[in-house]
Amino acid sequence: MTTHEIADGELQFSTDRSRLDVAAIHRFISDESYWTPGIARELVERAIAHSLCFGAYASGAQIGFARVVTDYVGFAYLADVFVIREWRGVGVGRRLMDFVFAHPQLQNMRRFLLATRDAHALYARYGFTPLSSPKHFMERYDADALSPARRAGPAPGRDCVPPTGPGGRRAARSFRNARIVPSLGECEVEQDPGMTGGAAGVARHARLVRVTLPLDRTVSKPIDFASVS
Ligand SMILES: CC(C)(COP(=O)(O)OP(=O)(O)OC[C@H]1O[C@@H](n2cnc3c(N)ncnc32)[C@H](O)[C@@H]1OP(=O)(O)O)[C@@H](O)C(=O)NCCC(=O)NCCS
Repeated sequence: MTTHEIADGELQFSTDRSRLDVAAIHRFISDESYWTPGIARELVERAIAHSLCFGAYASGAQIGFARVVTDYVGFAYLADVFVIREWRGVGVGRRLMDFVFAHPQLQNMRRFLLATRDAHALYARYGFTPLSSPKHFMERYDADALSPARRAGPAPGRDCVPPTGPGGRRAARSFRNARIVPSLGECEVEQDPGMTGGAAGVARHARLVRVTLPLDRTVSKPIDFASVS
């Protein structure tokens, strides 16, 4: 794909992937972003490799970044937009967005999406509005899917040792709704309609050997306890 670049005084904006300072981008997203704190460098690298990336530079140093995930036909999603603290408030973000939305292969997009906590005003300049038909949209959102703790994941049969006895084994089989509660050192199992109170009660006393998940994280896949019971 053709590389696009513009110079604007001491600033440069480029889609040249080879110019990206991946260490600096990872550092910002991991240490300073509110969306994926702690994200592993390998995941940032993978995202960069599969996105159309836009860098902002001052004297060759990375001061801003944005990426677009797109099919180059009708859909695009803007992500990981940032300007480093030292350069904020002087128009870099706006010029970076000018550069993104002027990209020849992002014209006539049927749907361009983004999510932002507080920079709506910045994107409103480019025609972004709240969803026009929110009831037509669905999402599957997992806020900390990329967190280091989640990526480490519980090691089956080691992190959480299920209770023995018929109740515990039943709970382990119904482990879809289990929560690991680090502060209590326990596995807590929600009461499924098909699960007896006894099973839930016994499972609550499961012994936790190593904590790997946040307090309120619901385990979405059954944990295989076969190797322990
Ligand atoms: C959001 C961010 C990229 C803006 O970059 P910037 O270089 O400071 O922005 P600019 O100086 O070009 O300002 C552009 C306009 O957007 C507005 N704006 C910038 N950040 C904003 C914010 N967080 N909330 C609301 N408006 C914001 C500015 O007021 C300005 O409007 P104006 O031209 O009418 O005065 C930058 O503040 C940043 O990196 N923040 C931390 C990471 C982040 O929140 N990224 C956005 C994720 S969606």
